[in-house]
Amino acid sequence: MKIKNPKLTKTRQDKIISLVSRYWKRLLLAALCMIVVACANGAMALLVKPVMDDIFIRRNREMLVLIPGVAVLVFFLKGAGSYGSEYLMNYIGEKVIRFFRDSLYEKIIDLPIAFIHKEKTGALMSRITNDVNIVKGMVSTAVINVFRDFFSVLAFLFVIFYRDWKLALGAFIVLPLAFYPIVLFGRRVRKFSTGTQETMADLNSFLHETFTGSKIIKIFNLEVFEKKRFKKKTKELFRLEMKKVIAKALSSPVMEFLGGLGIAFIIWFGGLRVINGTSTPGTFFSFLTAVMMLYDPVKKLSKLNNTLQEGVASATRIFDVLEEESFIVEKKSPEILKGNFFEVEFDHVGFSYNENEEPALNDINLKVAPGEVLALVGMSGGGKTSLVNLVPRLYDATCGNVLIAGKNVKDISIKSLRDHISIVTQEPILFNESVKDNIRYGKMNATDLEIEKAARAAYAYDFIKGFPKGFDTVIGELGSRLSGGEKQRICIARALIKDAPVLILDEATSALDSQAERVVQKALGNLMKGRTSFVIAHRLSTIDYASRIILLKNGSIKEQGTHEELMAEKGEYFKLQAMQAAKGLNN
Ligand SMILES: Nc1ncnc2c1ncn2[C@@H]1O[C@H](COP(=O)(O)OP(=O)(O)OP(=O)(O)O)[C@@H](O)[C@H]1O
Ligand SMILES: [Mg+2]
Repeated sequence: MKIKNPKLTKTRQDKIISLVSRYWKRLLLAALCMIVVACANGAMALLVKPVMDDIFIRRNREMLVLIPGVAVLVFFLKGAGSYGSEYLMNYIGEKVIRFFRDSLYEKIIDLPIAFIHKEKTGALMSRITNDVNIVKGMVSTAVINVFRDFFSVLAFLFVIFYRDWKLALGAFIVLPLAFYPIVLFGRRVRKFSTGTQETMADLNSFLHETFTGSKIIKIFNLEVFEKKRFKKKTKELFRLEMKKVIAKALSSPVMEFLGGLGIAFIIWFGGLRVINGTSTPGTFFSFLTAVMMLYDPVKKLSKLNNTLQEGVASATRIFDVLEEESFIVEKKSPEILKGNFFEVEFDHVGFSYNENEEPALNDINLKVAPGEVLALVGMSGGGKTSLVNLVPRLYDATCGNVLIAGKNVKDISIKSLRDHISIVTQEPILFNESVKDNIRYGKMNATDLEIEKAARAAYAYDFIKGFPKGFDTVIGELGSRLSGGEKQRICIARALIKDAPVLILDEATSALDSQAERVVQKALGNLMKGRTSFVIAHRLSTIDYASRIILLKNGSIKEQGTHEELMAEKGEYFKLQAMQAAKGLNN
């Protein structure tokens, strides 16, 4: 895998900063708490001198009471400041997380289907669950550390120079050695973080696919194959994680060792000054304490760099989705569709899913009159689904125009366009809600009575009543108990309750047996009266009520007319009929 070195662009940085600065009052308060912590830290190092010189050497009894009292106060202030800053910064972090989660979800739901198909579902999910958390780490943890540790470093530096500036100057020739590895290790961690995040996203989508497709895996005996594929992915993840671990784990000991060299120098040089009488033991120990305490915030600041790098990698992936431009856009002041009878027209329509692929539709010219029932037939892959998808703008035609009621669909508000179209998709899609709510998706304000009516019309009423809780049964509770035909009929009920003037039925009844299909089709036939309807069917016997039949082959209209006309033509339609008759599909 190619590992990139991510960087946030200026506009993205500005976005994060403006997001965080909304909470400036809390930020200010948090900074204040951090300054309290830093001052308390400095005070602790300062206290070492009076403890040493006044209590141990001069044996001053007053100080014996005073200093512990001050120590208690210092520790209390440090604790309170610590709590305040942690609470406030995490509050801001969680707010930012929530903002990103909400905006990601809103963005992804609004993006065209083609985008969701192109990106893997698991990878998109990982943006909302995983990446967002890492950005929180960057915003809250890192920001707490940067301020608190920065202030602490300042406090300790003050103590160090205040106690013995000559010794301090000497030490600072040696100590910066410990800083160089911070830069070095940070870079490596950033590199591998991007790699692990991408592999994790890949793993997520793999899990999603194989769990939902577990039936196929079992039937085709692919368990061993899938296990191997999974192990290959976890192996790659392991490799990258270990590289990250090495870079992270090495950074502390290397810095500690180099820091140790600095401490050794201080003991030698500082000790010499105490022996010579130019310094007191209290000064020396206070100095040493400050240097030792300095190490901790510096080490944390080095980790902060790692957290920042990980955060940048995740933020980049989040922004990539957030800034994705929708290619199905609405006009500035779109028209609103009104009325109940719509003509649908395809005017020299061509469509391809991908630029360099064969087009799925070629030069389609077709006028469907208001209230006409049009049947679409043809071999699989002929372009039937692709054609009907252009009407509600699930996809946009690559060339030519799709018109509804004489208006280009691109000129109409997307909401008003889709409000007037009802669809039963080729794969029945139900959500994990109650049966009632699933049907209600077609009309959010439907009454229970209307829902039951729609269910009856779709011949779904009886089997729904047989469920443990009837219409209130949650789809998930049924497990995989719902048959294909039952799912289809719930979907039909959902489409019917919408009562839209344009109806699209894409193999809506294909999972039913011929007899049940005919009954449902008949009911649908009644409902289609007065609506401009597109009916896609493989079983030709079920569409004999259509006023016109279109035969699509390789994305073009090959034949059109009534059943009788097409039979008389003895072309493709006739061949299809003959093939199905031979298979006994017509009964
Ligand atoms: N999401 C997609 N991305 C790329 N190509 C696609 C996509 N969906 C369909 N195609 C291709 O477009 C062509 C037409 O497919 P379409 O689904 O419209 O056929 P269909 O007539 O509905 O077939 P079926 O009867 O099997 O449902 C096919 O070659 C198919 O491979
Ligand atoms: Mg199809």
